[in-house]
Amino acid sequence: MTANQRGADGHRLDRRDVLVGGLSALGGLAAGAAGGMGVARSGAAPAPAATGEGPTTVQLAEHQRRAFHGEHQLGIMDPPQAHGVWVAMDLVPGADVTTLQRLMRIWTQDIAQLMAGQAPYADFEPEMTATTASLTVTVGIGPRVLGLRGVTAPRPAWLGPLPAFPKIDRLEPHWSGGDLLLQICADSPITVSHAQWVLTKEARTIATVRWVQRGFRQGHGVTNPGETMRNLFGQVDGTVNPVRGQDDAVVWCGSSAPRWLQGGTTMVLRRIAMNLETWEEADPLTRDTSLGRRQTDGSPLTGRAETDAPDLAATNGLGLPVIDEFSHVRRAMPDAKGLADRFLRRPYNYDDPPAPGRLTNAGLLFVAYQAELEQFLAVQRRLAEADLLNTWTTPIGSAVFAIPRGCREGEVLAQDLWA
Ligand code: HEM
Repeated sequence: MTANQRGADGHRLDRRDVLVGGLSALGGLAAGAAGGMGVARSGAAPAPAATGEGPTTVQLAEHQRRAFHGEHQLGIMDPPQAHGVWVAMDLVPGADVTTLQRLMRIWTQDIAQLMAGQAPYADFEPEMTATTASLTVTVGIGPRVLGLRGVTAPRPAWLGPLPAFPKIDRLEPHWSGGDLLLQICADSPITVSHAQWVLTKEARTIATVRWVQRGFRQGHGVTNPGETMRNLFGQVDGTVNPVRGQDDAVVWCGSSAPRWLQGGTTMVLRRIAMNLETWEEADPLTRDTSLGRRQTDGSPLTGRAETDAPDLAATNGLGLPVIDEFSHVRRAMPDAKGLADRFLRRPYNYDDPPAPGRLTNAGLLFVAYQAELEQFLAVQRRLAEADLLNTWTTPIGSAVFAIPRGCREGEVLAQDLWA
């Protein structure tokens, strides 16, 4: 018997069951396990004995595991990993609540196992699960799911495409929309790729892949802990953001949200192309003025350190504002006190193969989380109206998803949708 014919713990698993029967063949297994969610099947190769010269595989793996079960889904307020992929899937025609339940049971179990370094049933490369690399998988719900026969939860009015921003948007339909979302992040691209393969394969009889977007941040362990990443324009990007444990109400839906979203959040993914060729032509003064911060170290033009608060009232010798009226930072800064226009940014760079005759195809996967979509929209409206940075950036994709609350032991992701 080959490795392909065995589950992670040697449990016999007929490959044909999975490849031909796909989800339906596994539905029973997963449904059975969903009650307890306790099927621990280690896919990790045996750890080498400790040498005393550094962390063993086991210690590394423990260190790099994030707990799946909890009040909130992970991959949001926890520290961003180096690599990420966003996969939007469309449900097949005829899908109903039963199909959705089956998929959510399987994904819940698989994600819990993958994050714990254990191989799911349909994983034919169980060795790949040993390196968890701080893996998180976040599941999102698109608008059409709320219209499925048997789904009892009401569809929130905001769950759908964003309003058009005609001055800036050049949206390409193949980067937009989707019924379901998987956001998979880890500090190893191999871990991301493997989780993507396992989870999309499990869904293949009821959902098709609509788009896949891959992104990266600074490599794991190559900068000082807490150092802000740079985007592909070279800017320090991510200085001002809500802090976990302090600004949680900015991100997580509270008691005014529908029950299935309480402890969840709303997510916007904007694919924003960045024109590296014209950015290169901009001199340092133009670059810093357009942002309102220095490219060298991320400090505001009115301050010395990255963390100094920008002083919007400061003027220069000519009486003009030091931070330009139309700079990105001034336009993006919160107008109001409280939550009204604050949100969490968790962006990733992308750098894909260029079209023939071009040198680059790069940009930002701008991922925003907020308790209410309006928090994001208030800022997006201002930036779409006027923002010097728009000279070099173009939104080409846009999608909105509802992120259900996290799972406790024995629960299934998104289960409030049909409870
Ligand atoms: C490719 C597009 C974009 C680039 C390159 C970019 C870059 C930056 C940079 C370098 C900063 C300053 C450092 C920081 O606090 O992170 C910043 C701040 C910010 N950006 Fe963007 N950004 C982009 C798109 C957007 C969009 C679409 C939004 C919202 C709709 C947005 C909202 C913000 C906010 C809220 C801040 C913090 C403002 C503050 O309170 O100081 N950005 N951005």
